[in-house]
Amino acid sequence: MRIAVVGASGRIGREVVDVLKNQGHEVIGITRAAGVDVYTGEGLAEALAGVEAVVDAVNAPTTETAAVTDFFRTIAHNVQRAAAAVAAKRIVLVSIIGIDAFTAGHYAGKLAQEQAYQDGPVPVRIMRAAQFHEFTEMMLDWTTRGDTAYVPKTRTQLVAARTVAEKLAELVVDEAGIERVEIAGPQELNLAAATAKLAARRGNPAHVEEIVDTDDPNHEPQADGALLPGPDAILAGPTFDEWLDRLYPAQP
Ligand SMILES: NC(=O)c1ccc[n+]([C@@H]2O[C@H](COP(=O)([O-])OP(=O)(O)OC[C@H]3O[C@@H](n4cnc5c(N)ncnc54)[C@H](OP(=O)(O)O)[C@@H]3O)[C@@H](O)[C@H]2O)c1
Repeated sequence: MRIAVVGASGRIGREVVDVLKNQGHEVIGITRAAGVDVYTGEGLAEALAGVEAVVDAVNAPTTETAAVTDFFRTIAHNVQRAAAAVAAKRIVLVSIIGIDAFTAGHYAGKLAQEQAYQDGPVPVRIMRAAQFHEFTEMMLDWTTRGDTAYVPKTRTQLVAARTVAEKLAELVVDEAGIERVEIAGPQELNLAAATAKLAARRGNPAHVEEIVDTDDPNHEPQADGALLPGPDAILAGPTFDEWLDRLYPAQP
């Protein structure tokens, strides 16, 4: 199959590209670095020539609610239009579990993206994923000040990006795939505790502190379990500890 992956160099996109290529599919990787901008639409029609299906694994450059909502909504419109023009069979979107409970930031943008995709002519399948194991790396990058990372109180069921990519690849190829599915890791985790394990393996930062930022409109649903999977979700390993051992082996 000829499949375009939007966000092909990202954490999840590069894994999807790898899985699909290993299965023998022809993959068109779409990134700004490759000369295609799905927000402005530059190069998109040309890139989708002959494509049978699209995976959207793009990420936004901002978390400001109005800007991120505009970004994801515009991308959905542009990809829908270009995919319809080549009579693509389907678009598969990677989204996030529980976003209906959120009104601000990245989560609100993802909800707008889902809705905009569903308003378009090409059939859409949505895989809502839990935060990736790799999200703990992002937490350390984003929240470390001095020798401490300040991680928002969050209940989550972290899942490996590779595992999500394998299921996304199945969803885009399968002629009889379902329209909506959730995927999460095998067990519920506290985000700060998981991030602290990663920091300990890396050797820095020295401390990880859990915080409740009452100025963040998302702090309550995040802390209360809105990001946890429902009863019908696919639960799949590796566990966070297995992932950690593989990528950050404990020093003897
Ligand atoms: N990280 C998580 O824990 C998690 C969990 C569940 C769902 N998700 C969802 O997964 C998606 C991808 O996240 P990620 O962490 O894998 O992203 P990422 O690592 O930040 O990668 C983003 C990708 O999008 C491309 N991109 C950005 N703007 C673009 C544009 N205007 N035109 C074309 N390509 C563009 C980037 O390439 P260039 O910079 O070269 O353009 C890059 O390939 C997000 O929508 C996120 O909500 C993430």
